[in-house]
Amino acid sequence: MSSENEREELEELVRTLNYHSYRYHVLDAPVISDYEYDKMLKRLLELEAAHPEWISPDSPSQRAGSGVLDKFVKVRHPGAVLSLANGFSALDVRAWYERILRLDERVSQSGFVVEPKIDGLTVVLHYHDGRFVLGATRGDGVVGEDITANLRTLRGVPLTIPVQTGGPKPPERLVVRGEAFMYLRDFDALNQRLLEAGEKTYLNPRNTAAGSLRQLDPTLTASRSLRLLTYQILSADGAVPDTQWGTLELLRELGLPVTDQAVLVRNIDEAIEASQSWITRRDTLAYEADGAVIKLNDLRLAADLGVVGKDPRGALAFKFPAREVTTRLQSIGVNVGRTGVLTPVANLEPVEVGGVIVKQATLHNFDFIMEKDIRVGDRVLLKRAGDVIPYVIGPVIEQRDGSERVFAPPTVCPACGQPVEHLAGEVAWYCVNTACPAQLMRNIEHFVGRGSMDIVGLGTKIVEQLVDAGLVRDVADLYTLTRENLLSLEGFAEKKADNLLASIETSRQQPLARLINALGIRGVGEVMAADLTRFYRDLEALSQTTYTELQRIEGVGPNTAQAIVDWFARPANRQVLAKLRTAGVWPMAAQNAAPAGPQPLAGLTFVVTGTLEGFTRETVKEFIQQYGGKVTDSVTKKTDYLVAGESAGSKLEKARSLGVTVIDEAGLRDLIVR
Ligand code: IVH
Repeated sequence: MSSENEREELEELVRTLNYHSYRYHVLDAPVISDYEYDKMLKRLLELEAAHPEWISPDSPSQRAGSGVLDKFVKVRHPGAVLSLANGFSALDVRAWYERILRLDERVSQSGFVVEPKIDGLTVVLHYHDGRFVLGATRGDGVVGEDITANLRTLRGVPLTIPVQTGGPKPPERLVVRGEAFMYLRDFDALNQRLLEAGEKTYLNPRNTAAGSLRQLDPTLTASRSLRLLTYQILSADGAVPDTQWGTLELLRELGLPVTDQAVLVRNIDEAIEASQSWITRRDTLAYEADGAVIKLNDLRLAADLGVVGKDPRGALAFKFPAREVTTRLQSIGVNVGRTGVLTPVANLEPVEVGGVIVKQATLHNFDFIMEKDIRVGDRVLLKRAGDVIPYVIGPVIEQRDGSERVFAPPTVCPACGQPVEHLAGEVAWYCVNTACPAQLMRNIEHFVGRGSMDIVGLGTKIVEQLVDAGLVRDVADLYTLTRENLLSLEGFAEKKADNLLASIETSRQQPLARLINALGIRGVGEVMAADLTRFYRDLEALSQTTYTELQRIEGVGPNTAQAIVDWFARPANRQVLAKLRTAGVWPMAAQNAAPAGPQPLAGLTFVVTGTLEGFTRETVKEFIQQYGGKVTDSVTKKTDYLVAGESAGSKLEKARSLGVTVIDEAGLRDLIVR
């Protein structure tokens, strides 16, 4: 390939990958699989390795995060990065409204935008000529810290705008404000991973997001799945919208992430109603919101109203009731996880927090109890955020009466009585007894769960019965259960037994990726399990892999590689594998099965020309072929379709002269859907 062609290919890959990254992280609507994305990324990395001089700053490879900083450089903001005054009730909101109405009667005509108040941290993003050049923390509102390298790792931060060709051209210099935060599910998953790795867990999504951005190693930020939503233009040269609603629209059109939950309302009553409706729907958000922000829609009017201290008069945070309460810590229980990690759980005097009665909360780990000096009998401060498990923040020391007792971490596993172990460098304590019934229970629960073998009707209660009755000693035993076995259990009649056996039977058909995930190897989740099936045709092949070989696979780090090798080396696990094989639960990787899916393009011949948004030359070809179509280079009378992208040239003319049907990218996708 000539170097000019390679350069073109590289540039096309950067454009295409950025487009898909935007579809995935900003629109939440991907149109290609992770696999296809990774393949293109791999090719880009190859080209960049061969020609480092071509690496452009907006290449997705430049997000990875590299180079640890010594310290953060200070950045002066282009204008004050203001804060918000708070209101706690409809009365407060009305009082605010009356105040600003007295100052300027145009307030009654402005209308309001109501947005969720995201519990994250403000970040300031600078774009020059559409390129992301600088990102900063809020700092004191005048001077912040340069966290560009960290912000680049957020997939939701477009490196160039507009993201879509044909989008509006941004002002030459544009400075945007937004909120960086973490989805509750990402926070949970992170803590789960840390817990299983025996490391310290984080207390809440906000602190985790803040900590991940304000640290000097961008690779760490990259691993944290932080999100961004933007809501304000801080400065721009050239015209910008004069309403808040218009601002959100412009930001969205440029490809910056914007909430889809904002509403435009006509008057203060509607603004209050919109804010209050959030209080009840708070748990439906993917992130923690601590209020609604009511903003005058007319931004010129808002600017004219000025500020009081650091708070603009034209906006108000309507804070939701705090979901923090105090209650008594009655006792501390200890749970045994699937990997044997012991975690302390607070048993609480039942208390209502934000409409939910809470009886248990996490205490993170034993170090946390010691550090915070949490004692049994203490009144403790408790917080609930979204659907995340409530957590204890700390004791209310002033309320002690001397009857509280210091908690001693267990020296033996509460489930099996075997001594527990503490690995050097980890905070977690483990039960290392592989036959521990608690671990077995968790293991089976994981094995039958969604994302694993998905055995419907096998809940915790039944798993417990099966383990207690000695019918199931490992996951493979599920496949040799008989009707008689099940009928011997309390609560089982024939129908229930047959249904369960049927769903166990169905689970035999689960693909290899599911089975690998189901095994519960530390560090191997659904995504990695699917990745592994690209390299190993069955569990036998995977069991024979080596640490070095595994590490060559993208995404497999040293700890996971070791965990995989260790898992397959354990005699008890080998025995489970042998039993699964005998039971016929032995799926092969899809690559060895017949690939042909639906072939709607069979018999059709395509030519592709011009630049497409969602495909490179290679991937569009693969796409067409995957659905049975044929791709040729030149347009002839035999061509069925010409797929034409941006700046299509002579082929388009030829197709027209021959009467060949011309379609665009969307037209191509439509052919598949039909
Ligand atoms: S507007 C002049 N909108 O809340 C504009 N702030 O308590 C002032 N926040 O520092 C900010 N979501 O970090 C605005 N939709 C939203 C917000 C939001 C979260 C944060 C922001 C601000 C803090 C004030």
